[in-house]
This record gives sequence, C-alpha cells and structure tokens, in this order.
Amino acid sequence: MSFNFKIYQQEFTKLARVYQLEPIDLHIFESIPSTNQKIWSLIDLENPLPIAVIALQQTAGKGQWGRTWQSSLGGLYLSVALNVKLPLDESFHLIMTSAWGIANILRIYNIPVSLKWPNDLILENRKLGGIKIETRTRTENIKYAVIGVGLNWNNPVPELGINLQSYWHKQQQQSITYLEQLTAITISGILFGYQHYLEIGSQKMLANYKKLLTSMGQEVTVNNCPGIVTGVTDKGELKVRLRSSGASTELSLSPGQISLGYPQ
Ligand code: BTN
Repeated sequence: MSFNFKIYQQEFTKLARVYQLEPIDLHIFESIPSTNQKIWSLIDLENPLPIAVIALQQTAGKGQWGRTWQSSLGGLYLSVALNVKLPLDESFHLIMTSAWGIANILRIYNIPVSLKWPNDLILENRKLGGIKIETRTRTENIKYAVIGVGLNWNNPVPELGINLQSYWHKQQQQSITYLEQLTAITISGILFGYQHYLEIGSQKMLANYKKLLTSMGQEVTVNNCPGIVTGVTDKGELKVRLRSSGASTELSLSPGQISLGYPQ
C-alpha cells in the first residue's frame, strides 16, 4: 500500500481555494508508533507550522484517556500541528473547532457525520473516528496544538465502530474514492474549523458544535439519578439536568465524571 501525493494535492488545492486555507506541509510515513508523537518531534526540530503527518499504520496509536488506538492498514491516521494562542482553560475550544470542522466538511461530501461529546465522530450511531488533542503551553497560554485524528476508512473496526467502505456498501454510492482525498478533506476540516473559530468566536462555534451533537437530550444516569443532557459549557463540560422527586438540579460534568453511550 502506498500514498499517491498527487491525488492528495489535487483535492487539497481544490478545498484550499474554496475555504481560503493556508498551505501546509504533509509528511507521509509507512509505519510509525504514533503520528502525534512524530509531529512533536518535527515541532522540536523547528519545522514551520502548520504541519501535518500521516502514517499508513501506527504501532502505538494513542487514544483518549490513555487508551491505545488500533491502527492497522486501511485507516486514516493523521496529526495536524497548529500555532495557537489560547488561555490554558480553553483547550476544549480546540476539540470543538476540530470536531465541527471535520464533521462539517464530511457532511458536504454527503456523509452525515454527527458528534458524540466530547470528541467522537459518529455515523449511523457508530464510531467513525476520534480526535486526540495534545498541547504545549508557554506563559499561561496554549502555544502549540496537535490535533490527532483516527478515521475508519477501510480498516477493521470494533463492535461499536463503522468504516466508510461499509457505510457506502449499504448506501450503494461512494462520495470519496481514495484515502488520499479523505486525508485532504480531514486536514481542510481542521484548518477551516480553527480559522472559522477565529472569525466567529467561541460562543457561535459552541452553538455550531451543539447542533451536531447526538448527545443533546440524551437520557443519562448520574449517581443513580436519572437526568437529561441539556448542553455543553464553554469549557467543555456536559450540562445534565437531574430529575428527582419534583426538583431539578443542573450539573456540569467533565469527561472524567461521565461517559456517554451510543444512542440507540
Ligand atoms: C479516540 O480515542 O477516540 C481518539 C483516537 C485518536 C487516534 C489518532 S490516530 C492519529 C493520531 N495519532 C495518535 O497516536 N492518535 C491520533
């Protein structure tokens, strides 16, 4: 398996024109432990940003909450590094802009992706992909952001996952032909998401993100109390309204305090 740079470049050039994106260097690897890890070493070597790295497979792909991300041939394993200036407590803004940017652009390609709080990409109630953000700070601000994305293209997926080839097989039509195009589309989604966030601000971006959330209105249980998801705060906490004997309490929960299942 190899990566045809020309196909990638054609798609990226097209999208860069539409979304007015800045140029970005793409580094391509056959097999490495992790694209997130690799991109940090390129940052340390003072490569100018933004920069992107993909690998055809990863041997130690990093998932959320310290999990490993299975990364066999056929999937998209991508990291994009950006220079940012964000207060430390606004790292959620990187999640929402990237998740929204990627989902928004995939929807334009007729793939009705939605989002599961905080950073899962969902298709037909299954996990199509995930995002892992890593940051480095300088004087109270986030200075470097690495946005790592794993997207299921043609790779085997776990029980609650879905890949694009099986989705298209059922739909009997395919809107993206090559992994190289999906790479260009995903990079463009990340760049456009961040650019758009800088233009419209965090409140409007949060509203955009919430429109794509499957989790809104979902029933949940917190400490044996039934509740309903009512929103997400600007800091990325999940808002849950608990109902108990007539009274209702509003809670804001961090990802460590609650994990949402997949909608049925
Ligand atoms: C999740 O657990 O949902 C997030 C998974 C993110 C995986 C991607 S694959 C490319 C990039 N490099 C990594 O090591 N992890 C991210």
